[in-house]
Amino acid sequence: MDESYSMRNTEKQVFMFSNAIVRKPGKSLIKGLTGANLGSPDYHKALDQHEIYVEVLEACGLTVKVLDPDESFPDSTFVEDAAVLTPLCAIITNPGAESRRGEVVEMKEVIEEYYTDIEEIRSPGTLEGGDVMMVGDHYYIGISERTNMMGAEQLIQILRQYGMDGSMVRLEEVLHLKTGVAYLENNNLAVCGEFLTSPEFIRFNKIVIPETESYAANCIWVNDHVLIPKGYPETKQKITDAGYSIKELDMSEFRKLDGGLSCLSLRFWK
Ligand code: GLY
Repeated sequence: MDESYSMRNTEKQVFMFSNAIVRKPGKSLIKGLTGANLGSPDYHKALDQHEIYVEVLEACGLTVKVLDPDESFPDSTFVEDAAVLTPLCAIITNPGAESRRGEVVEMKEVIEEYYTDIEEIRSPGTLEGGDVMMVGDHYYIGISERTNMMGAEQLIQILRQYGMDGSMVRLEEVLHLKTGVAYLENNNLAVCGEFLTSPEFIRFNKIVIPETESYAANCIWVNDHVLIPKGYPETKQKITDAGYSIKELDMSEFRKLDGGLSCLSLRFWK
């Protein structure tokens, strides 16, 4: 078993992410999928925001591999959807969005640099990483417009082969599971909207994100820091009160594409 994995389960305080993969936005970003109705993103501003995102991950102790832009795939800066990285294996996804399906080809080659155990979600199963939330050895999988039950079942089978497990969560209102819920370790869950009453999340300490700040529910725990989008004061206060060190990032251009902090990176241990 991977040493960092056993540390994770026995001595939570020493568990840390060591690596991240990100992809610089391409000019084709402006043609990305969106239902946000917030206008077209500014490419140069998106590049600046992405650069700061990388700097913040590095400041949290991660080694960040920055992939070149891929103009063929407008949404390919949202790398999280192309793979699920666990401590024991990597799973290449099969995105539910047709226009994103080809993103996984190059991502698999990149992941082969880090992982030997690589599995794949296959059609007719679909799955996007934004629908997968890791809580220790358990992975919550959102059944969404992008992730279907066959994809979720395949992922659960794979996880079980490696001694982990998963379960499904239905969602109706948001794009991905992690659009509305974020696990911040130590049994703390930032949660908003439809997930406030999900029976699957009863056991967690809930940090309730108000509906007016719903975009900030997509925040990420990175090595004892919590990265949140800039401009959400109530969320900032609540997560600070829960004892976390906050790093705020301007995400305005990615928000226009329904993208959030989690979508922009794959964070892992290798
Ligand atoms: N624009 C991000 C997505 O829809 O996948």
